Amino acid sequence: MPLSKRKRLRDFLYDQGVDGALRGLINEIGEASKYISYAIDTTSLGYSGSVNVYGEKQLALDVLSDEIVSEKLGMCGIVKNMASEEQENINSAFLSEPGEYSVCFDPLDGSSLVDVNLAVGTIVSIYPGKQLVRPGREQVAALYVLYGPRTTMVVGLPSGVHEFSLDAVGSYTLSRPDIKMKDVGNIYSPGGSRNQYLPAHKDFIDSLLADNYKLRYSGGFVPDFNQVLMKGGGLFTYPALKNAPNGKLRLMFECNAMAFIVEVAGGAASNGKQRILDIEPESIEMRSPIYIGSKKEVARAEKMLAEQVSSD
Ligand code: F6P
Ligand code: MN
Repeated sequence: MPLSKRKRLRDFLYDQGVDGALRGLINEIGEASKYISYAIDTTSLGYSGSVNVYGEKQLALDVLSDEIVSEKLGMCGIVKNMASEEQENINSAFLSEPGEYSVCFDPLDGSSLVDVNLAVGTIVSIYPGKQLVRPGREQVAALYVLYGPRTTMVVGLPSGVHEFSLDAVGSYTLSRPDIKMKDVGNIYSPGGSRNQYLPAHKDFIDSLLADNYKLRYSGGFVPDFNQVLMKGGGLFTYPALKNAPNGKLRLMFECNAMAFIVEVAGGAASNGKQRILDIEPESIEMRSPIYIGSKKEVARAEKMLAEQVSSD
């Protein structure tokens, strides 16, 4: 199809009835992602010399990506409150703005994979009003950008999940409308060291292996989850571990956005006991185990984890 005939992100959102402010906000994130993509191609891969609130050394790219998103969201007049995985405090500098939305984001997830030239991503949760520390089910939209061989943006609206690809002239154009998952798949993407698995999780993973599930793990949440979503089934998990009882991934910056997207697409996301989107966050930096993908695998994980608890 000629470039000029493809549906651009802005027009698509308009046709879907998305309100002007939310359209503007999603477009701003799209703009930020173009600068991040350029930064990935050109910025030094060294450390910045700083450490984030989780004790992780920040790359120059982490800091730059955070600045790009923060600046775009701060200047657009649509955002009241924002929080970044790379910043210690919620940035409430815009509370007095007329903005209608608040945003949690991970500017460059999986950034340590850039030096080996694997895919990385930006993850964004959008909430109405000014409150940020709240359950993920209250999101009005969620999205992620995947910087891979192509740059794509997957947007989850309550009405559907859609993929847009960044084209040669710098526009996001619709590449896969209305993405849907099957109830069951055949790939699995298991985070965490196996020797740190808890017994029930180990049994669950072994049961997938016994059923011939194929391993698909790169170490980046965005590309690994994207693979499960786009293949239409399977499971990504980053479980509770012996040395990390709450797992690794952050509920508000990483899990909630993907949980929103997967549910709209017909899949499921759980911490092993309850729906991710129903977790009441204790703090903005809270971590959570996650089992996310098609419904049957997530239900199977919950069942096997519950059986272990009841037999203890
Ligand atoms: O932000 C955390 C992250 O980089 C995710 O993108 C990824 O899923 C996970 O860490 C990988 O962790 P590990 O190296 O322990 O498998
Ligand atoms: Mn991250």
